[in-house]
Order: sequence, then structure tokens, then C-alpha cells
Amino acid sequence: MMIRTVATTPYDDQKPGTSGLRKKVPVFQQPNYAENFIQSVFDSLEGFKGKTLVIGGDGRYYNREVIQTAIRMAAANGFGRAIVGKGGILSTPAASNVIRKHGAFGGLVLSASHNPGGPNEDFGIKYNVGNGGPAPERITEAVFARSKEIDRYLISDGADIDIDEVGEGSVDGMTVEIIDPVADYAALMETLFDFAAIRAMFQGGFRMAFDAMHAVTGPYAKDILERRLGAPGGSVRNFVPLPDFGGHHPDPNLVHAKELYDLMMSAGAPDFGAASDGDGDRNLIIGKGIFVTPSDSLAMLAANAHLAPGYAGGLAGIARSMPTSAAADRVAEKLGIGLYETPTGWKFFGNLLDAGKVTICGEESAGTGSDHVREKDGLWAVLLWLNILAVRRQSVKEIAAAHWAEYGRNYYARHDYEAVDTDAANRLMAELRGKLADLPGMEVNGLTIAFADDFEYRDPVDQSVSRHQGVRIGFEGGSRVVFRLSGTGTSGATLRVYLERYESGPGRLDLATSDALAELVAAADEIAGIARHTGRTEPDVVT
Ligand code: G6P
Ligand code: ZN
Repeated sequence: MMIRTVATTPYDDQKPGTSGLRKKVPVFQQPNYAENFIQSVFDSLEGFKGKTLVIGGDGRYYNREVIQTAIRMAAANGFGRAIVGKGGILSTPAASNVIRKHGAFGGLVLSASHNPGGPNEDFGIKYNVGNGGPAPERITEAVFARSKEIDRYLISDGADIDIDEVGEGSVDGMTVEIIDPVADYAALMETLFDFAAIRAMFQGGFRMAFDAMHAVTGPYAKDILERRLGAPGGSVRNFVPLPDFGGHHPDPNLVHAKELYDLMMSAGAPDFGAASDGDGDRNLIIGKGIFVTPSDSLAMLAANAHLAPGYAGGLAGIARSMPTSAAADRVAEKLGIGLYETPTGWKFFGNLLDAGKVTICGEESAGTGSDHVREKDGLWAVLLWLNILAVRRQSVKEIAAAHWAEYGRNYYARHDYEAVDTDAANRLMAELRGKLADLPGMEVNGLTIAFADDFEYRDPVDQSVSRHQGVRIGFEGGSRVVFRLSGTGTSGATLRVYLERYESGPGRLDLATSDALAELVAAADEIAGIARHTGRTEPDVVT
């Protein structure tokens, strides 16, 4: 084996988005494309010689090829050890845990999360730092800058490494350790939750349906839910990870997990339904006859977390992304703990978690997690719900009703306009930003605008500032609309419109969400000119 220095020329589109570099597979298949990006990552890091790099992915199409490349490049660049999930598999939260547990320098997670997979679908590469979390903007910006100048990469020219057997080998002086992708993660979950109580609940006849969506959580959910917790065989559905996720979007929302939703709304519904996404960090929670929005789920989990052993000592604080509803704010207030509002992107929670300011975090985009790792964690959210259900001995519906009666209800929906012409989307946002100062006091569709701004975040730990994180329009009475362009799409632009209305009065807690938000939807279109700019009169996805 030999280390080669290969000459290359830069690509100009390797800017990491909300969560790493995501592109269509054919883009990644261009000569040296993945190599350029991986080398740009390594060139932006310091002090990793002889240290450990964790490598794994969600099993999507092109995963195995890039895993081999990444191992060879890690060896050539001087890492001392690579820890690789067997078969190239590691869910995102499991990778975060492995990085932390094994004291690794960092990790490469190959995934495009909930985006579809296959020869013409999406692929992605994300770098996580030593705390197990996504690289902060300081690093992703350095990677992008480097990618525009790169002129060589280093790679070992050894043969393919067998990644399908647990064990140890070596490549050009670097040890390669292939690990069981589930073991460390399952062990961590056992320390956080009352497995005995959940097991007893299943023994008592409790039934659940978990949809792994043919993605990475299949093996994790089978092992934890069925084998360790005794959920009946068949509780975990679509559990074989497939490179193209069976042709579906592995996105656990009401559109792409419709089958699960329909089951949970049917007469024969089990007690609890849940799903996770391509790389295992998102979650969907549905009780019998009730969908729990991610924003509500964050609030309900925070209010009940002390019922699980891992959180029995209480929470230090709660963090949520700005577009996430304020339901969790009310819980934080009652608990007398801090509430932090961050820009969209899990990476913004890392500093707060490391500094011990918050214990639980969540986003409207179906992400919830805690300080046990530095990524959001789909199965963790499912297990915390199960633990709470086992202790409270109430249904999801009863728990939600009690929560709203106590705190009031934040009706919430997100409207996505996908694959919009990028220029049109940018014009819409620019026009909005241009008139922010004129909006307060204005009446739109019967609602009076109380404030309008472009969200800006100063990290309370390192004081870094992130600007232009989304336009917020607040109305008198507490309703709110937020406009943002997605940072994770791969074709055109995706306009996200987040709608929220708070109600506390009895008799106003059981409205249909679409009715509760109808006035706001009309106001949003009037303010931003969605139809005028995009030509769309209906969103593509409502979550
Ligand atoms: C990924 C990130 C999340 C983020 C979500 C939506 O899943 O990990 O932190 O909330 O994408 O991002 P977007 O920019 O598409 O709204
Ligand atoms: Zn994901």
C-alpha cells in the first residue's frame, strides 16, 4: 500500500448547508468530487494526527463507495484509527455517541437525512467535531473556503477494506476497527430510560407501530424495541435499510409516513405510533387518534422528562430553534429554567449543551434530543415517550389534553413550497426584508402586526453572531408567521412558512389546526406575496 498525492481542481458548489454538503448522487460521482470535499474537511482541521475518526452513514446509495474513499483518505492524512460501523452503517445519533464514547477527534457521517436515496437522488457528507455534534459554522465556512482552492488530495491506494465483519485491520498504518453499529447506542439508551417499566407495559398488552421507513433505524429499533423491550414481533415495520429506501422519502412526516398516520387514525390503531428518518435523527410521534406536532412533543417531553431515570434530577434548560413554536417556553417558565431560541440547525445547540445551559432541545423539523449526544435523536424521543407513557399510565391523547389544559395550546403548522425558482424565492425574501420597518402597526387580514424582524442570534457561549436567520412577523395577541428559505434542499429553493397561534381559553383547545390557522395563512400570503412571487397557490407539504 502506498499514499498517493492526487492533483485536483476545485468545484465551486461545495458549500455545506444547514447540515453538511448535500447534492444529487451524480454530482457526487463527478471525478474527485467527494475526495475534494473530504480533503477540504481534513485541511480545515488541526491536530488530528494519530487520533481517531468515526466513519458511518445511513446506508443510502453511494454510501459504501464513499466509506471506502473516506477510510483511505483518513489513513493517508495521518489519522491513527478509524472506527467504522459494520456495513458502513451508523445512525447520526449513534455516530455522535461513538465519537463521544471513544474520545474520537471527529467523525464523517454520510447521509442526506430525510431526502430520498438512489442513483439519481440525494447523498451527503457531514463532519462532526469531538463533542459529537455537527461542525460549527467557523469550520463549515473554512471547509467551503478550502474547497474553492484545493489542488490536491491524499489517498491510500490499498485494496477495499472488508467493512462487513466486526474486527480490526489496518490501512497504511491506520487501524481500522469495524464495530457493531447498535451496541454502544443501545447501552446508552438503557442508562437513560426505565427499560423494566416499558417492558412491563408491553407485557400488559400495550401495542406500538414503529416505521423505520427502510432506513437506518431498522436494526436499532428491532434490537431495542422488540428484543430488549419485548414489543411483539412486527411492531417495527420496514426495518430493512435499503439504498433507495424502497423508493420513498424517508421523511417521517404526515405526507411521507401517511400509512402510519392512517393506521393510527383507524379503529384498530395500536396505542402508539412513531417513525424516524433516513439517518435516524428525526422522529414522528402519533398517539391513537392524535398527531403530536414536533413543537408540542418538545414541550410535553420537557414537562415530563423527570419521569425517566436519566432526567430524574430535572432539566438545566430548554433550547428550541426560532421557527419552533413557543409551547416549550411555557414549560420552561413554569419549571423556572432557561429557554434559548436559536437559528435553525442542530449545530446551534452544541455550545448550550456543552456549557450545561440546556438539557433538552428541539426543532419544528421533527428533531428532539438531549445532552446524551450532540445530535437530535429519533429513537431517543420514542423511548422517552414510552417511558412517560409507562409511568403515567395514560394515553398520548390524555397526556396532550392535560398539557394543553395546563399550559394552553400553540396551534402550529409549517407550509413548504418546494422546488421554487431560486431567483423568485430570493426576490420574495428580499422584498420582505426591505419592508420590515414599515410593517409594525399595519393591519393585514384583520390582524395587527406587532413586530417584524430578521432573526439574528448571538451565541451566549462564544458570542458568535448569525444573521438573516428568518423573517419573523408577530401579531397582536401572540400569533406569529416566520418566513425562511430551507438550507437543506437540493433542487431550486424551498420556501418555509411557519404559522403559530396561541389559545388558552377552555373550549378553544380542540380546534382543527387548519381552521385555527386559516386567517394567518391568508395574512402570510398577503404580506409576502407568495402566490405573486412563486406562482403557487397551495403549499406542497403541510406538516
Ligand atoms: C436538518 C437539520 C435541522 C434542521 C432541518 C431543517 O435536519 O439537522 O437542524 O432543522 O434540517 O432545515 P431547513 O434549513 O431545511 O429548514
Ligand atoms: Zn436526519
